[in-house]
Amino acid sequence: MSNTQPAADASERTSLKARKVSFDWEETPLHWVPGEPFSTHMINTIHMLLPAGERWFIHVYRQILPYIHDDQLREDVIGFIGQEAVHSQAHDDVLPHLKKLGLDPTPYTAQIDWFFEKLLGDRTLPPGRARKWWLMERVAIIAAIEHYTAFLGDWILNAEALDRHGADPTMLDLMRWHGAEEVEHRSVAFDVFMHVDGGYRRRVRTWAVAFTALVFLWQRGTRFLMENDPSLLDGKASFSQLRAGGRKGTLPTTAAMARSIPTYLSRTYHPSQEASTAQAVAYLAHSPAALAAEARMPGKS
Ligand SMILES: [Fe+2]
Ligand SMILES: [Fe+2]
Repeated sequence: MSNTQPAADASERTSLKARKVSFDWEETPLHWVPGEPFSTHMINTIHMLLPAGERWFIHVYRQILPYIHDDQLREDVIGFIGQEAVHSQAHDDVLPHLKKLGLDPTPYTAQIDWFFEKLLGDRTLPPGRARKWWLMERVAIIAAIEHYTAFLGDWILNAEALDRHGADPTMLDLMRWHGAEEVEHRSVAFDVFMHVDGGYRRRVRTWAVAFTALVFLWQRGTRFLMENDPSLLDGKASFSQLRAGGRKGTLPTTAAMARSIPTYLSRTYHPSQEASTAQAVAYLAHSPAALAAEARMPGKS
């Protein structure tokens, strides 16, 4: 099967830097989208999924660096690793706050740690073809996942309904800072995949793996949070609540999620064709957490 090289939009490129943000969760309520526990917990699942997931990205990318023979892409990968390391830590820091509010995420995060560290870990493979095959599979899985992190980043930057619903400003800033950096670096994982392999069959196969895993883990995480939320009498998660969140604008619509599938599987797809770097950079220029991180940088006072 041919390996088409899709066109990247050069104007969407930006140089990547990690912003060492931190957040104070003291004032953030459990239902930080007021009156919307399902939307809150659907988004809260990110805090439980991404720390292990992004640590795994970094683990795999450290192994792929020797296969990258393009200085620009190498620089992008190093910037990507720096950003994902801060994302992972920032979401991890929310978990003790959830526990303090009576919702201990540990039973679920233990499963996620197993998923990324064991199931998607290095495995005991002999050096050579098998080991390289597994590395390339994982690089392709990361490209597919990053299609969805960019999709969600673009969504949250534009989710004005969350502001209208009075969503907690600190949590909104965490989600939008992260979303903006996902939009900033949305091409890196795909470019890495195209550079080291780029096979269309592999793209389709690993998309199916990533999509199935994301749907499975996300619904499981949301169900876990709804069922263990101490403020809900009989917390349940359902597909109809997902659709309702989409209609209200407190979650992405199921139609937009469905449209993202053929987008990724198109042979002419390149992530730079989706979302807007200018919008992401504009958000980061006034994000309270990003500004505070910048002020803390050495040399600034
Ligand atoms: Fe991230
Ligand atoms: Fe990312």
